[in-house]
Amino acid sequence: MHIIDGKFWANKIAEELKLKVQNLNKKSIFPTLAIILIGDNPSSEIYVRNKEKKCTEIGIKAMVKRLPADGEEQKVIDLIKKFNNDEKVHGILLQSPVPNLDEKKLMNLISPKKDVDGFSTVNLGLVASNDEHILAATPKGIIKLLELENIDVAGKNVVIVGRSNIVGRPLALALLNRDATVTIAHSKTVNLKEITKTADILIVAIGKKHFITEDYVKDDAVVIDVGINRVDNHLYGDVDFDNVKNKAKAISPVPGGVGPMTIIMLLSNLISLVEDK
Ligand code: GUN
Repeated sequence: MHIIDGKFWANKIAEELKLKVQNLNKKSIFPTLAIILIGDNPSSEIYVRNKEKKCTEIGIKAMVKRLPADGEEQKVIDLIKKFNNDEKVHGILLQSPVPNLDEKKLMNLISPKKDVDGFSTVNLGLVASNDEHILAATPKGIIKLLELENIDVAGKNVVIVGRSNIVGRPLALALLNRDATVTIAHSKTVNLKEITKTADILIVAIGKKHFITEDYVKDDAVVIDVGINRVDNHLYGDVDFDNVKNKAKAISPVPGGVGPMTIIMLLSNLISLVEDK
């Protein structure tokens, strides 16, 4: 069994991004990410703080704009429009979940050229038509991890458990673009175990602590755990790591697997937006 060390790979990519930023700075280009945070959701506060910290580490300017949870929609719309028209802003991130307002509508007001999350219908549609421009950070991090670990996906049976708009769906499309045979399972799937046991590569993103045990896993499968389940200040994956590890050929842990890759891929997306401008 091999442990896929996302922290190691993320640190390596961070070094590459730092150099890219330094080269852009020499050309008087200062990559800038605008983050809109509405309300005071404690998880969102942590996510945004971590993003700010990582930006600073790499030399990216992070601009956080906070708005109240009970504010007017027009204020958010005006702010997005302002950032869309500001040449100094290269990427815009509207922190999800957005309380009280229509999140999808607001996400779609972000210019596709500044949509660092890849959540807009335009950028998702491009992924769906095998013309990837910006791929959402978590799917991108998973694809990158598999590439870096020399795990070829072409022709492999990949089973994704979870169909969210930010992980399962875009990931399925991105893997299809790379010639994998993709199955998406979800909460309504019947006989889940029978399906997960066909997986050469099993990717789990359902948000249920230690849901996947060894009886869901084929011998020598690659297991990627996307779960982030916080219980009593501890972080748990969707996969019961200790129970599954000896059955898997390779497995990503939580913490230290997909998580560190996600944030660095967001910043990699930002640098792509700067370079494509
Ligand atoms: N909330 C949790 N993760 C994310 C993310 O990657 N992007 C946005 N916009 N919101 C999030």
